[in-house]
Amino acid sequence: MLRIENLRAGYGKSEALHGVSVFIGAGKVVALIGANGAGKSTLVNTISRLLPVGSGLIEFEGRDVTSLSAADMVELGVIQVPEGRKLFGSLTVDENLVLGAYSSRTSRKSSVASRKKFVLDLFPNLAERAQQRAATLSGGEQQMVAMGRALMAEPRLLLLDEPSLGLAPIIIDRVFETLERLRSEGLTMLLVEQRADAALSLSDYAYVMATGEISAEGKASDIRLDERVQKAYLGEN
Ligand SMILES: Nc1ncnc2c1ncn2[C@@H]1O[C@H](COP(=O)(O)OP(=O)(O)OP(=O)(O)O)[C@@H](O)[C@H]1O
Ligand SMILES: [Mg+2]
Repeated sequence: MLRIENLRAGYGKSEALHGVSVFIGAGKVVALIGANGAGKSTLVNTISRLLPVGSGLIEFEGRDVTSLSAADMVELGVIQVPEGRKLFGSLTVDENLVLGAYSSRTSRKSSVASRKKFVLDLFPNLAERAQQRAATLSGGEQQMVAMGRALMAEPRLLLLDEPSLGLAPIIIDRVFETLERLRSEGLTMLLVEQRADAALSLSDYAYVMATGEISAEGKASDIRLDERVQKAYLGEN
């Protein structure tokens, strides 16, 4: 579904990805783990084209999308749940969800109402919060809105950047239960996570990033048993 070859990208002259190659098959969940500052968010933001591609190739469903814009990527169904949620705090929960549904692709497919039904079925708590401003919600509820907003866009590929960041353990469990359900429905996902153990249990395949390069990759179950990975990322879990 998504193929990235030898991708270089970063911030102006400061390159943060030094030739990264990643493959995500249709219907698969792929974990991306690695230390702070390794380049995980940079990779996700470059895929969704919030950051420009320096060089390399990005192919989505067999088509070269390297030179497309962020809006084009959304139209293709590559949808991101950004690090730190990035909600519209002064808008209501309902307004945040509906904003996620704006693209010509989604309006052609199912109605906004039916997408909203799907999201509220996934996150029943949000129904009673519908008219509340997003900024007044707890961190866990905000994460649900951020995921709900992304799902309103009917993703073909969902990019999740640290969905459990800063949340209480019980809420983290809810986030992973939700991801498990989306996985069982066949949604293709790239999951960036600090909670490496939970991410690897959920995933089919995994990449480990270190200083802008892929330092290890393999079946998630193998990566979980890899000694170097255990030492670096699974020690305290
Ligand atoms: N806006 C920016 N401008 C310049 N450099 C940046 C910017 N954002 C990140 N970087 C640098 O790019 C590199 C990769 O950072 P990135 O945020 O992609 O890492 P990460 O793996 O997502 O880390 P974290 O686990 O902390 O989220 C780091 O060296 C970081 O300092
Ligand atoms: Mg990050």
